[in-house]
This record gives sequence, structure tokens and C-alpha cells, in this order.
Amino acid sequence: MKLNVAVFFGGQSVEHEVSIISAHQAIESLDKEKYNVLPIYISKDQKLYFGEALFNMETFKNLDAIPTITTHIDLVNQNNQVEILPVKTSLFGKKVLGTIDVAIPVMHGTYGEDGTIQGYFEMLKVPYAGCDLFSAAVGQDKVLQKHILHDAGLPITNWFWVYAREMDDDPVGVLTKVRKLIYPVILKPARTGSSVGISIAHNDDEYRKCFEEARQYDEKIITEKVVKPMREINCSVLGDQYNAMVSALEEVNHGDTNELLDFKDKYLQGGNSSKQSQGMASTSRIVPAPISDGKTKDIQELALKTFKILGASGVCRIDFMMDAETSTVYVNEINTIPGSLAFYLWKETGVSFPELMDKLVEQALERERRRSRMTFSYETNILENYSSQSAKGAKQ
Ligand SMILES: Nc1ncnc2c1ncn2[C@@H]1O[C@H](COP(=O)(O)OP(=O)(O)O)[C@@H](O)[C@H]1O
Ligand SMILES: [Mg+2]
Repeated sequence: MKLNVAVFFGGQSVEHEVSIISAHQAIESLDKEKYNVLPIYISKDQKLYFGEALFNMETFKNLDAIPTITTHIDLVNQNNQVEILPVKTSLFGKKVLGTIDVAIPVMHGTYGEDGTIQGYFEMLKVPYAGCDLFSAAVGQDKVLQKHILHDAGLPITNWFWVYAREMDDDPVGVLTKVRKLIYPVILKPARTGSSVGISIAHNDDEYRKCFEEARQYDEKIITEKVVKPMREINCSVLGDQYNAMVSALEEVNHGDTNELLDFKDKYLQGGNSSKQSQGMASTSRIVPAPISDGKTKDIQELALKTFKILGASGVCRIDFMMDAETSTVYVNEINTIPGSLAFYLWKETGVSFPELMDKLVEQALERERRRSRMTFSYETNILENYSSQSAKGAKQ
């Protein structure tokens, strides 16, 4: 029997369109002999849509028309099966449009990569590929992530973080911390992604301006020492905490400017439409990264350690910064649902895109098998002897 595999994409994120591209690359690569592929599109206002039109990339040229040519759906777990149901009831009641055995979220950034959709899958009790709710959330929150990486002894740049309010209450205190790092520093909202709200400051005046920019996006603001001159090296990891493999490395090309790659640089490539349609696979990159075998092994080892300590699973991409002069390597961040699912790194490693998708399905089912052996509830009901007199202070 074929497995029903639902690919979720879109969502309320600045990377909505990038997710559509990544998801279609994934849908094309899922083996149709093994799987019934069910595309589920999440609109920017977080509604779920289902229908044949979602297989066609042309559909996404007009996002506003999607509700008119697909069915607005809801997912419901009935009799231990997740059913796809239309939101609107017809004269004949609600007809089940399909069932889901495995969910694959191919969503980047907020609501997709940050634990939100993973929480939804948990509530539905549907096996899903990739990080679980906890590792996805930690992967999206740079503050939590850096604390964990630092605690595990992994190399990260010098940094500190504050709540934005601290800049109103004690600007001198914040600027004192900044000067300890020594300018230039880079400011980041803790939970955005795609370089949104990130900028570099060279002095106190610039710092104040960058801070105002960053706090538009998050209350938690990170300040970090700039690595310069910097080479950006990425590595993908595939699997789970028990069994994971590392990919070839890539070097992301910054050109001569060594400036930040912003959202447009990453995805729009100066408006070149043929490159646009390739998502992350189009960014200027060299695979394998032209660095020594020894350094490659070191980075792969760090990637594996980062993946494991953050409790990640599925296919992730771990980004590194290498000081171009000293060759010192720093872990920058994990991307728990990387652009194009990093297939181009796996291709170089000898894992085809269809094999990568097989492994994601297998990982989702394997986690479900492990979980089914765990205890999540007790047979006893402590409310059996409940009386309203004893209710006060019941929680010990
Ligand atoms: N400490 C740093 N020094 C120099 N450049 C940095 C530093 N941190 C980040 N960058 C640059 O900014 C980009 C975006 O930062 P990153 O932390 O990856 O945030 P995002 O989640 O938006 O991708 C990185 O890809 C890198 O090019
Ligand atoms: Mg990044």
C-alpha cells in the first residue's frame, strides 16, 4: 500500500514564496511509486488549502486566486487517522478528501520552522518529518540556541543579548557591553531569519540606529562580534540523534564586498527570473567548498555536534563562519528546514533528492515508532477522589 505523504508549504512568513519553491522541488522528488503525494498550501493568513492545482507552479503566480481554485480544508484525527475535510459542508455532509500518513513541512521561518506547525502535527498525532517541536523552536530562537551551543563548548562568536526595553532603561549599560565586544558588531533580532532586521554597526550612533531597526522585529536583540574577513561555509546533516550523516560543504559567495547577504541577494539575484525559480539552489555557491580536507572534517564534526546538542532531526543545514585570515571557525546557526532542503549538498554527497525524501519519510515514521513505546499518561485518574474542599493548593 502506498503511503499518503502530505507536503505542507507556504505559511505566514517572509519566506512564503521560497517555501513554495522548496516544496515543489520536494514534491517532484517524492517517488510516486511509493507515495501518494498530497500538497497542502498554507496561505499567508494561515488557512489550509488542498487540490490538484497545487501541483502546478503556475498556480502560485496569483496567490489571491488560490482559494477560488482549491478547497479550504481542515485536518481532523478520527479513528486514529488524520483526515482531510472541506471546511464548508455540502448538501451531502462532509466528504473526506484524503488521509495523511506522514506530514512533511517544507516551510521556512516563522510558523513553519519555529515549532508552530510541529505543535499542530503533535496535536493531530500525525508523524512528521524534520525537527520536533522543541528543537524547531530552539533552532528559530538565536538566543536559546547560542546559550546551548556555548554551554556545549561549541565555538561561537562573542555575543550578548538584551530585551529591547533595556536600551530605553539603561542605554549606557548596553553601550558599555557593546564596546567590550569592540566595533564593528552585528545586531540581530532573535527570531526572524532571512537577514530581516540584521545590520552592522561601527560606532555608538550606528548602534543606536541598528538597534531601533532590529527591535521592529523582536523584543530580544542579539549583539555579536563581526567576523571579518569572513568565509561562509555550510554543511547539511540528515538523520536523527541516533543516526545522522553529514553532507559535502558549500561556500556561499559574497562577491568582493563582504557585505551582508540580504533577503534580495539570497533569493532574488538582482531580478534574474530563471534563478529566482530555483530558490536557495540559485544563490552563488561553491560545492564542495574549496577548503582543506582537515578543515572540512572539522566543520563536519562541528555540524554533527550542533545537530545533536540541539536535538535536531530530518534534514538541517548548519551555517559556519570562518575567519579568512586565522581560519578560526564559528558555528553561526542551524536552519532546521533549509532552502531547497539542501538537496544540492546531498547530491554532491551521493544521496539523490528522491533518496533524501525517502529518508525524511523514514525518519518521521521511526520517531513515531520510538514515541509509541513511551509513556505519556498514567492509568490512574487523580480526580476520582476529587472534592471541591481539597482543591485549593492542589498543585504541589
Ligand atoms: N558575526 C558575524 N560576522 C559577520 N557576518 C555575520 C555574522 N553573523 C551573521 N553574519 C552574516 O549575516 C547573515 C545573516 O545572519 P544569520 O545569523 O545567519 O541570520 P538569519 O537567520 O537571518 O540567516 C549571515 O549569513 C552572515 O552572512
Ligand atoms: Mg542564516
